[in-house]
Amino acid sequence: MFDKLAAGAASGPMVAALGQAREAMYRTSPNPRVGCCIMDVHGHVIGQGATQRAGGPHAEIMALRDAQSRGHSVRGATAYVTLEPCAHQGRTGPCCDALVEAGIGKVVASLMDPNPSVGGQGFERLRAAGVEVEIGDGADQAWELNLGFFSRMLRGRPWVRAKVAASLDGITALSNGQSQWITSAEARHDGHAWRARSCAILTGIGTVLADNPRLDVRAVETFRQPTLIVADSQLQTPPDAALFAAQRKVVIYTAATDLASDRALALVERGAQLLCMPDGQGRVDVQAMIHDLARLEVNELHVEAGHRLNAALAEAGLVDEWLAYLAPKLLWGGAGWADMPSLSRLADAQAMSFQSVASVGDDLRVILRKVGADRLGMDGST
Ligand SMILES: NC(=O)c1ccc[n+]([C@@H]2O[C@H](COP(=O)([O-])OP(=O)(O)OC[C@H]3O[C@@H](n4cnc5c(N)ncnc54)[C@H](OP(=O)(O)O)[C@@H]3O)[C@@H](O)[C@H]2O)c1
Repeated sequence: MFDKLAAGAASGPMVAALGQAREAMYRTSPNPRVGCCIMDVHGHVIGQGATQRAGGPHAEIMALRDAQSRGHSVRGATAYVTLEPCAHQGRTGPCCDALVEAGIGKVVASLMDPNPSVGGQGFERLRAAGVEVEIGDGADQAWELNLGFFSRMLRGRPWVRAKVAASLDGITALSNGQSQWITSAEARHDGHAWRARSCAILTGIGTVLADNPRLDVRAVETFRQPTLIVADSQLQTPPDAALFAAQRKVVIYTAATDLASDRALALVERGAQLLCMPDGQGRVDVQAMIHDLARLEVNELHVEAGHRLNAALAEAGLVDEWLAYLAPKLLWGGAGWADMPSLSRLADAQAMSFQSVASVGDDLRVILRKVGADRLGMDGST
């Protein structure tokens, strides 16, 4: 119906490179989702590729291999790539060197890589080797694909996307706690794709105790389950909670200092990692927790919590985006998206912009972004 997320200009070969990057959506984290398309001097696409799982080849290498396997020479060709080619020796060799060695004549890149170990060096190395470099084609879409990676590199914290399932009048649970289900099966299915693209899912102990959810990815095919994070100040998570059913890492942030208590040890026995991060008032320090998630290499954080934890995150200015599924129902009263203090001046409203509005089943899916969060001040130039 309305989608700013897919908007932005890009040339034909860059559209193909972006398509490759999109295919890598559930695969590359904690590395960025990158695509590459190689066009020969006659304007023919001769190779394409996308970044593989962490530790595997990057998009440029996959595209070079694709061209080679199809018997094409890449000498003098142009490589369209959605992010600056890497310049460092990680688990794979530097892509800029591979492009130079292969004889690529020009590189068109959407954005500079904000990773401090790249940060313009890839472009410099290419230019020094006589390769022409152009930056900016497809920048908006490339940023959208990697907003979590950019957030972690530039702000030292993940991109935080809070999901709510609500009635049209904004109710996420009745006063008696009932919330299953407000939205349609189609909306819940769609929500799994957003879980799947995240590195981690965060919930609060209130939701764990009320709903005993699994909070894993079931409706979408994925080779890895996002880490599950629980904010649980007093370590009340039951060791037999359904959230332990999935094969994945579980991290519980707590304010409890005795991590040798029976309760703590029972959770550790279930495979949970316990991290003590108190805020001085007996609660988890959400600011510290969200920043700590960068240490755990979380790019995109998907929040599925109740109105209390949502409020703590929103009040701390940590929610970048709301993913709201709105059912054509009116519930009149109960818990809202976030239990925030009432405002007395309209001028104090949180300014948001609509990124996308779509119909999913009988519901609406609305993506709202905090004004100012776009591109995190990055313009993609060198
Ligand atoms: N419709 C939806 O989208 C949706 C989604 C999820 C849940 N729900 C519903 O929401 C209801 C539960 O809401 P809830 O608010 O109790 O659950 P919640 O937001 O998931 O969890 C709240 C709990 O988080 C813990 N917490 C830890 N650190 C905190 C901090 N700094 N600030 C605030 N809380 C912190 C607190 O318990 P401690 O102090 O003990 O740690 C708090 O009570 C249920 O009815 C559930 O069905 C609805």
